[in-house]
Order: sequence, then C-alpha cells, then structure tokens
Amino acid sequence: MTGPREDYLDQIRRGGLDLPPELAAAFASVPREAFVPDGFQRRDGSWVHPADPEFLSVVYSDDVLITKVDGRVPISSSSQPSLMALMILGLRVAPGLRILEIGAGTGYNAALLASLGATITSIDVQEDVAVRARAALARAGIAGVRVEHADGYRGVPGSRFDRVIVTVGIGGVSPHWLEQLDPGGFVLAPVVHAGTDPVLRVSGPPEGPVTATPICGAGFMHASGPLGADHPGAFPPPVAAGALTGMSEAAPARFDPPLDDVVYRDLWYAAGCQTRRATHAILPDTEQSRLALLDATGTGGALLLPDGSVLAGGAEAAAYASLAVDILDRWTALGRPPMRAWQVALTRTGDPSSPIWVPDAWSLR
Ligand SMILES: C[S@@+](CC[C@H](N)C(=O)[O-])C[C@H]1O[C@@H](n2cnc3c(N)ncnc32)[C@H](O)[C@@H]1O
Repeated sequence: MTGPREDYLDQIRRGGLDLPPELAAAFASVPREAFVPDGFQRRDGSWVHPADPEFLSVVYSDDVLITKVDGRVPISSSSQPSLMALMILGLRVAPGLRILEIGAGTGYNAALLASLGATITSIDVQEDVAVRARAALARAGIAGVRVEHADGYRGVPGSRFDRVIVTVGIGGVSPHWLEQLDPGGFVLAPVVHAGTDPVLRVSGPPEGPVTATPICGAGFMHASGPLGADHPGAFPPPVAAGALTGMSEAAPARFDPPLDDVVYRDLWYAAGCQTRRATHAILPDTEQSRLALLDATGTGGALLLPDGSVLAGGAEAAAYASLAVDILDRWTALGRPPMRAWQVALTRTGDPSSPIWVPDAWSLR
C-alpha cells in the first residue's frame, strides 16, 4: 500500500492488536472512503469533506468517523477501526458464516465481514442510513451483504444465523436474536455497564439461562427502540462535565504510577459489578473520562481516579467515599482481575411486549 493508506494497518495495530493476515487483507482492500462519500465529523466537531486535502489521511486513521448528527448528538458513524478489528476477531468469522449485523451505519463493517467470506444481513433503524449503506456497498463492489431498514430488535424473523454482531450500544440483548441463532452461535454486543459499553459475547437459549463474557471495553452511540429502553436496575446515564460540584479529596492516591487506561477500565468494570451507582463522568476542564459513583441527586457522590485517590461531594459524600474505598480495596484484594475474568449472568426484563436480557450478576471465573 502507498499514500494515505500506508500506515493504516500500523495504526490499527498500535494498541498491541495482533491482526491475522486475512483481517489485515480485509482492512487493506476495502476502500473506507467509499463508505463516507458525504464526509464526516471529527471528534473535535469539525467536518471533513472529500475535497478537503486531509480527507484520505483521516479516513485511513484509527478514528471514528461521525457521518450523521442530530444537533450535537452523533446518530450514525463508521466505528473506530481497531475496535471493529477486536470485535471481528471476537466474532471468529469463517467463510460461509451467516452473520446478522445490527446497526448497518456506513456499511464498512459489513464490507469487512463480507471480504472475510461471510454472508451478512445488516439492519439499520434509519432509512436514509440504510439506503446510503446499500449504495456504498455497491460502489465498493462488495457482494454478500443485504441491508434492511428496520428496528434491529426483532432480527430477521424466519432467518437463521451463526453470529449476531451489534455495532450500537444496547441496554440488553434481544431474545429474538438468540432464537434465530443456530446451535453454537453467539451474540457479540456492546451492553451498557457503568456508563460505558463493554463488548460481551452472549449465548444461551431465548428463554434462558443466558450468560456472557466481556471481550473488551468500548464506548458506542446508543440504540433507539426496545434495545435502548430503560429498565429497573439500569446504571445512571453518563454525567456531563460540570454536573458534579464541590468534589474534594476523600482518600489519597494509592497507585504509583497511576493505572494505565486498560487497567483503569478493569477497575471500572469491577466497580459496575459491585454497585449500580457506577457510571461515566467527564471531568470539567480536562474533558477526561472518569469512573463516578453517582448519588440520587445526580450532582454528588464519588470519583475514583486512576491514581486510586477518591474525591467525594454532596449530602452523602461520606457514604459514597467509603463505597469507593471498598471498591478499590476489594479489586486490589482480588488481584486486580481484568474485565475478561468476569462471568456475567443475564436476566430477562423490560417491557413485557419487547423484553431484553440484561446483565444482572457477576462472578469471577
Ligand atoms: C456506530 S453506527 C454503526 C457502524 C457501522 N456498523 C459501520 O460499519 O459503519 C450505529 C448505527 O446503529 C443504528 N441503530 C440505532 N438503533 C438501532 C436499532 N434499534 N436497530 C437497528 N439499528 C440501529 C444507527 O442508526 C446507526 O447507524
């Protein structure tokens, strides 16, 4: 490869990802620019159009490309390539597999799966998005992908699949997907946990028991309809910068050096296994993502920082500080288990006419 695509694979591998040759060949051959013909928004909010000189170099970077917004909220995108790669690896794709994708978006992920020899049915809830994905797949000359416009909750009634991959954050797994899987199949989906969307490998019969194992940490835009519906026991939604006020140090730093991003995610995951008050907060000024335990007012509670220090504030500051310290103590005593060490049991909940399977209990494997 030459030009802007030259170091695309290196960028995808930068976090230590081992790309097998077939997947590297898929990323090298599928033209990502064909899937963003109208340009995209970068993380900093600026739009990049195909005529802009930096267009191809951003397209071939390890970054999410936001293709549709509702006001300031992203509602469709091409996900970060290294996360797509991790999920495709977790899907254990083989030629001939029948894959259901929920969230067609640009169609790029479906094109990568198709170039690995799978047959894809990809659903998107937004009609214009589905139409554009279909056109992009045709333009890129990708065969073996059918794009449908529908809410993905029902899957494709009457069809059978070997895998389901969900490329939008969901509150819980549809029993229809489990019903449409052949024996040995599984669902790979980012399911909300403590304000983030770790990707779970989920399996079990539609009537249960349903269990899961975490594959990797992730953050996604969230699904509409029953897949994103609120349910009893849901974690508080992420907290915007500035919502937590009057936070002051309640416990000193304990990790030197501070936890790196991956290990901090492991602590974050464990916190969500211990309390339903855990969520994601953006710190004012720095815009950094931090693990928060949110009180019922949504303006107080505790923050657990990567160096192990705890900040607390609000009327119940002492109780939340003590919960934060307990989470740190337990996780440390358990030997800092990684996210992948947990086994998840799911429970069926939500609207009785459109139930979902949601994570409910966690144990170490
Ligand atoms: C992050 S994008 C998907 C990225 C895509 N796989 C790609 O390769 O570009 C998420 C997509 O999920 C779609 N979506 C949201 N809720 C949905 C639902 N209930 N059913 C199907 N699609 C949904 C959105 O319209 C959006 O296009």
